[in-house]
Amino acid sequence: MIPTLEWTPEGVSFLDQTKLPQQETYVLATDYKQVATVIRDMITRGAMAIGVSGAMGVAIGIQRSTAATIPQLNAEVDEICAHLAATRPTAVNLFWGIGQIRDLYNQLAAANTPIPEIKQQVVALARRLYDEDISNLRKLGAFGAELLPDEGTILTHCNAGALAACGYGSALGVIRAAIENGKKIDVFADETRPFNQGARLTAWELVKDNIPTTLICDNMAGHFMSKGRIAAVIVGADRIAANGDTANKIGTYSVSILAKEHGIPFYVAAPFNTIDTATASGDLIPIEQRAAREITHYQGNQVTPDGVNIENPAFDVTPAKYIAAIITERGVLRAPFSESIRAMAERSA
Ligand code: MRU
Repeated sequence: MIPTLEWTPEGVSFLDQTKLPQQETYVLATDYKQVATVIRDMITRGAMAIGVSGAMGVAIGIQRSTAATIPQLNAEVDEICAHLAATRPTAVNLFWGIGQIRDLYNQLAAANTPIPEIKQQVVALARRLYDEDISNLRKLGAFGAELLPDEGTILTHCNAGALAACGYGSALGVIRAAIENGKKIDVFADETRPFNQGARLTAWELVKDNIPTTLICDNMAGHFMSKGRIAAVIVGADRIAANGDTANKIGTYSVSILAKEHGIPFYVAAPFNTIDTATASGDLIPIEQRAAREITHYQGNQVTPDGVNIENPAFDVTPAKYIAAIITERGVLRAPFSESIRAMAERSA
């Protein structure tokens, strides 16, 4: 299994995704500020990986604290959570992961639990969230595999794979599960400008797993759909609003419209913690704006003229009406999503 991130006695170890596919190197974060830098600089990325990293960031912050009293530790935990929450705004999993550790901490602190015991328990929870991410994605994969055809080409955008999670992946987990079930699936991966998650990461992890993969430029998807070459589209998600509108990597929205036009099912695969029932619709999802340099430069070289204006939104929102199904570890959601999401949330409450 690809070790995207890992809790170790020395700190949290991250596969440096900015260096892939040329180099497989690791970055060790030994305090919460370093974990925040890893998330902000996209050394680790992808909603599920960001969520568990946020949890591990809070846990390492508490573990390494020298606070002698609960009031002192309370103030530090506020600062740790705020610092980690300020790294990336769109993937709701980050706030979920931070919240999981924060909630446990609050309970333990309110009960005046001895600080060494608090440290031990928050680290144990962060490690459990890591394990649960992988087991949830395997369940999700099993649900999603049923939806894919027995054979055919599946288009994906960005990287919703093992690298975007603690392992296995969401969209790529569905593809892995379908292949494990004997389906003859091959993958078309959009390159996913400007950060090239498709070209660098999806292609890397699928080829490593011997899954037949063809890389295409983002602007080629419509061409291949019009030629009848794509059987289905499957993508991950960074935040799903209560009505099913889905924020995912920039370019996903265009692919969803192309799929609709060509009568191709467009699936979203995401663990339930990606659904943000507190956000009513997609227009309320905060969209991260990233540095102009991601567009003006390619591998350190400037490729655009000085003085040109740049816009670089990292995500867009696919309206629920373009989504055939949302696949979670708790089952498959269908339209009307407002109702199916509410029902699933109520069942789990
Ligand atoms: O900017 P990134 O690389 O963190 O964006 C990742 C994506 O958009 C993925 O498709 C998304 O997180 C779903 S997979 C967890």
